[in-house]
Amino acid sequence: MTIQINFNGVLDEKAAISVFDHGFLFGDSVYEVVSTLHNRPIFLDEHLKRLRQSAAAILLKIPKDDDWFKQEIDKTLKASNNPESYTRIVVTRGTGEIDIDPITCETPNIIIYVTPVKAYPKENYENGISLALVSIKRNPREALNPGIKTGNYLNNVLAKMEARKLGANDALMLSPYGFLTESTTSNLFFVQGGRLMTPSLDCGILAGITRDIVLKIARENGILTEEGSWPAEALDNAEEIFLTGTLKRIMPVTRLDGRAVGDGRPGPITRKLSRLYEALVASLV
Ligand code: PDD
Repeated sequence: MTIQINFNGVLDEKAAISVFDHGFLFGDSVYEVVSTLHNRPIFLDEHLKRLRQSAAAILLKIPKDDDWFKQEIDKTLKASNNPESYTRIVVTRGTGEIDIDPITCETPNIIIYVTPVKAYPKENYENGISLALVSIKRNPREALNPGIKTGNYLNNVLAKMEARKLGANDALMLSPYGFLTESTTSNLFFVQGGRLMTPSLDCGILAGITRDIVLKIARENGILTEEGSWPAEALDNAEEIFLTGTLKRIMPVTRLDGRAVGDGRPGPITRKLSRLYEALVASLV
């Protein structure tokens, strides 16, 4: 099991970014996290599509096509020899002058990190995790749109630190307008009256790839779904809560602000969707 770093197409475990790279200086970059099955990337087309959408939204021109990314990811995963890998693709604005204006940055840097995957503890899935509603708000869409997956995650870093201070595993953030949004690296779902609810994209969230798949699976299996805008109080009588993300997949939440969610155990809809999601992933390769 190894860590492999692909820097602009060259495998180099000791790769280092310039201190003048605007990704480092200003968080001026975009990224994706991809997971694997049998060490092959899954949902890669979806991730590459979102990477390009994020880049376009910050007017960053990615100098390579999808085939290049697929080949380089393949090469890096193979070199790692990991049973399963965490794959992170980062595209930075590149090296330039120390000036907020990216005009001096000529070429984006492309870094593909492959590390052995660090699975979440089994007990998190069996017993659920805890969330804290934090005071830090998710960025409004009018400032830094959370729909763009940029390397500027300080907002979420602060939320995560606040959650830890409150003794919770992760944070739940509201928008500045008081609506539920998402967690620090995952989307939010809850169940009310047997119906599956999730904040809509216009609440200011990332259009999660796992979120999309879960909504699709739910609909195909006769679970009523609703995307909308809700205040935090909507969770007061939620029967179930869970988070979705590439690494977490479907993570039950059984405590919110120290209170039990439902009966304090992962609920039937969460468990059903987890089973369906795992079956779908298993069928991919
Ligand atoms: N995070 N919301 C935020 C803010 C995220 O950073 C992520 C993903 C998600 C879930 O999206 P997806 O289902 O496409 O992974 C939602 C990745 C995993 C990360 O930053 O590690």
